[in-house]
Amino acid sequence: SQRVRLAVIRGDGIGPEVVAEGLKALEAATAGSDLVFERTEFSLGAERYLATGDTLTDADLDAIKGHDAILLGAVGGVPNDPRLTGANIERGLLLKLRFELDHYVNLRPTTLFPGVTSPLAEPGEVDFVVVREGTEGPYVGNGGAIRVGTSAEVATETSLNTAYGVERVVRYAFETAERRPRKRLTLVHKTNVLTFAGSLWKRTVDRVAAEHPNVAVDYLHIDAVTIFFVTDPARFDVIVTDNLFGDIITDLAGAISGGIGLAASGNINPDGRFPSMFEPVHGSAPDIAGKGIADPTAAILSTALLLDHLGRREEADRVRTAVTADLAERIGGAARSTSEIGDAIAARLAGTNASAA
Ligand code: NAD
Ligand code: IPM
Ligand code: MN
Repeated sequence: SQRVRLAVIRGDGIGPEVVAEGLKALEAATAGSDLVFERTEFSLGAERYLATGDTLTDADLDAIKGHDAILLGAVGGVPNDPRLTGANIERGLLLKLRFELDHYVNLRPTTLFPGVTSPLAEPGEVDFVVVREGTEGPYVGNGGAIRVGTSAEVATETSLNTAYGVERVVRYAFETAERRPRKRLTLVHKTNVLTFAGSLWKRTVDRVAAEHPNVAVDYLHIDAVTIFFVTDPARFDVIVTDNLFGDIITDLAGAISGGIGLAASGNINPDGRFPSMFEPVHGSAPDIAGKGIADPTAAILSTALLLDHLGRREEADRVRTAVTADLAERIGGAARSTSEIGDAIAARLAGTNASAA
């Protein structure tokens, strides 16, 4: 049997609500298989910070490193407690994990599932994947401020781009494109303004493209991408882009494909030196937290990405199939709670297992 040590970070707001449903799906999809999950719960996030002042200690990090994969809900944003002002749980926990565990690929697939309503009148076929760089760019925290709080304040936030960092994520994106039927890759940047980083990204893509003659490559500026996501998302197959651009367009990708509650992601360390981390694209959603109405689909689909990463394509596809069926049945149906959706998907998975056995 394959033993998988799974670190679970439920986090804040709707994080725990959706992770509970993700775990149900994971269990149901693998029940009776040779896959055995050994879960460790890590109580991290706002509550822990308020209680201890810690976001992620070295001991936490070491313990997490001893796992094969991580499932995370969302962190930050809640509760609306003044003691959290000035704390930065997003940077101190989420980004720290991505950086320390070298999650240089932030994989964010977007599919408009059959029967799901897009806010676009004629979306066409939406099926693309954003390969977002995860460890560099404007996220590195390379900046500072002087004369803070005065009218003469100056703040900087420098984007870091290394040849090493750009090349490895670009290579991953080309390999992803090679495995997809359309074999298209779009570099998204802002080379007309961010000329130094843009040039590095462009030259890297051109060089790696020479090794992938089967992949059709094009380039779009980030602002134009927001047009095409709305007018012609079907043109996209694989997008490779910088950390910040990738963050922004994947919320938009969620919106056009039926809602942010459906958007899954994987923070991948392809080398396998560190555990990869799977999480919804969305955040802690303070506006709906505690109401039991968050859509757990993104968390459930994130477990499919986790299974893909473990080399369990069959079980991963089972999760996607169950989600696809559930989504198709939502049309015109009554609104369901977070756990009702999770239970329905888990029940489908249990059914699939029974019939397969
Ligand atoms: P958000 O994604 O939490 O919420 C944006 C909107 O989408 C809200 O209206 C929310 O109700 C809705 N939404 C999100 N997930 C949903 C779901 N599963 N079902 C139904 N509706 C859903 O983004 P935000 O409001 O910008 O951020 C809130 C907090 O979460 C911030 O502190 C932010 O830093 C943090 N955040 C954390 C993560 C993470 O931990 N991975 C990701 C994004 C944002
Ligand atoms: C995401 C989130 C994070 C990001 C924040 C919470 C640091 O928005 O995962 O998309 O910007 O990467
Ligand atoms: Mn985001």
